[in-house]
Amino acid sequence: MTQPGDGDKGAVLLKSALSEICADVDAALGRLLPVPDDPRQPLFEAMRHAAIGGGKRMRPLLVRAAGALFSLDPEQLLRVGVAAECIHVYSLVHDDLPAMDNDDMRRGKPTVHKAFDEATAILAGDSLHDLAFEILASEETHPDPFVRINLVRALAKASGINGMAGGQMMDIAAEGAVFDLPTITRLQQLKTGALIGFCLEAAAIMAHLPPEARTGLHGYAHDLGLAFQIADDLLDIEGDAAVTGKAVGKDAQAGKQTFVSLLGADRAREQARMLVNQAKAHLHEHDERADLLRAIADYVIERDH
Ligand code: IPE
Ligand code: IPE
Ligand code: MG
Ligand code: MG
Ligand code: MG
Repeated sequence: MTQPGDGDKGAVLLKSALSEICADVDAALGRLLPVPDDPRQPLFEAMRHAAIGGGKRMRPLLVRAAGALFSLDPEQLLRVGVAAECIHVYSLVHDDLPAMDNDDMRRGKPTVHKAFDEATAILAGDSLHDLAFEILASEETHPDPFVRINLVRALAKASGINGMAGGQMMDIAAEGAVFDLPTITRLQQLKTGALIGFCLEAAAIMAHLPPEARTGLHGYAHDLGLAFQIADDLLDIEGDAAVTGKAVGKDAQAGKQTFVSLLGADRAREQARMLVNQAKAHLHEHDERADLLRAIADYVIERDH
């Protein structure tokens, strides 16, 4: 089990896990999205542009790391991770549209509506959303239909009104309002935390873990999700667009309500550190099989992109 001072060990573990998951997710999405020789071609090309070759793949990595706690099947975990990533990428494609954040760059490439057009970007987002559920509903993902339906329900909840889309609505509403800390916390929990929560919950569902045994994972996901979004908000003011692969300095300009806008960068960073330590403390019952989850927690606030 990693101890304080084992930061290097965690960093090494994380580095190889990140490069493996990036290659595995790219390969899986490549297989799922062969470009057809018919008029749907631009839709497939746009989905591939958005989903293949970029991104940290944090959500598939979280599914893999949580699955390692229970020695779950790696192929099944990868499919579930890819489903979470499809929802994430769809949310980014739509988040970048002119009607939302109106961004030109994502993952170091032109956004989908820039590389293609708005209609294609909307459809690519829609289709990535649908692909996520098609993957989860497939027998290849899990032989037990009860597990599959629970995965589908959990991902639907994390994506919709009580998850990402609900958080995005609050994020838009926040542009013309002043939110207090509990409201900003709820916004971030829905916008970013819910999908991260799904990644941990998915492993618990696949491991048939009883609800009372899920408390530690829920606590970890809650704290990690908030820390992750604080880091994203800090990168918007302190990051380098050449490294983040997306524009910076846009949140304040748009009047976004974030932990950084409310607390200032220093206190927000402190808060993120506290949340990361708290996230790791939730894993106290787990042995060294949780070391990757611990390393991910550290990475979330140390990352530069
Ligand atoms: C960015 O997510 C948007 C948020 C939900 C904060 P990531 O930082 O995971 O973006 P990629 O997947 O690495 O591009
Ligand atoms: C978007 O948050 C989170 C999503 C659910 C897509 P941001 O708007 O802050 O994400 P970035 O900074 O554009 O990646
Ligand atoms: Mg946004
Ligand atoms: Mg955005
Ligand atoms: Mg942001």
